[in-house]
Amino acid sequence: MKIFSCVFAKGIRGQFGDNNKLPWKIKEDMIKFNQITTMGTSKNTVIMGLKTFESMGKRPLKNRFNIVLTSQILDIKNDNLIYCSSLDQALDQSIGYPYVIGGVKLLNESFNHSGLQIIYETKVLLPDLQSDVNFTTLIPSNFTLIDTQELVPNVCYLYQHNKN
Ligand SMILES: NC(=O)c1ccc[n+]([C@@H]2O[C@H](COP(=O)([O-])OP(=O)(O)OC[C@H]3O[C@@H](n4cnc5c(N)ncnc54)[C@H](OP(=O)(O)O)[C@@H]3O)[C@@H](O)[C@H]2O)c1
Repeated sequence: MKIFSCVFAKGIRGQFGDNNKLPWKIKEDMIKFNQITTMGTSKNTVIMGLKTFESMGKRPLKNRFNIVLTSQILDIKNDNLIYCSSLDQALDQSIGYPYVIGGVKLLNESFNHSGLQIIYETKVLLPDLQSDVNFTTLIPSNFTLIDTQELVPNVCYLYQHNKN
């Protein structure tokens, strides 16, 4: 079984997306996200839902192999991009280390998946963030907080599965 991580950010009340984009624009958040998902010497994989891919202008993330989950047949083609219909299929097709990056359904499924090893959760501490997509699921109880990093206005938490 392939192991993988989840990487996501949310506001104080679980704000996750707004009008098909992030509810904030924070450069440090993007830098941190890029650092995590490109870690190591080989190219890693990012796995995302279709709306998340659309929110990125339907452009695959550079220097990462992109897998988009969808039940549809799409005609956007790119050497760095494939489509899959399930998380397990995506994990099988992934290269390097796989990171699930959202959206909500995929994160919820990942939280219950036995291959989930690490959760990188960023809390965006800005007040009054608008959102039309919220992610309020708590970190599963079989994960332990092992690192906290303050990158004002964000706090980044790293949780590891207890079996590691
Ligand atoms: N805060 C963050 O860290 C973060 C991260 C990513 C995205 N976002 C934001 O969140 C919003 C989009 O997220 P979302 O939750 O609404 O949508 P999403 O999960 O990105 O996309 C939903 C679609 O993806 C496909 N899909 C998702 N999970 C699947 C699964 N397990 N198996 C098969 N197909 C699956 C389905 O497509 P079909 O209908 O085609 O089958 C589903 O309709 C945007 O506003 C985006 O900016 C925020």
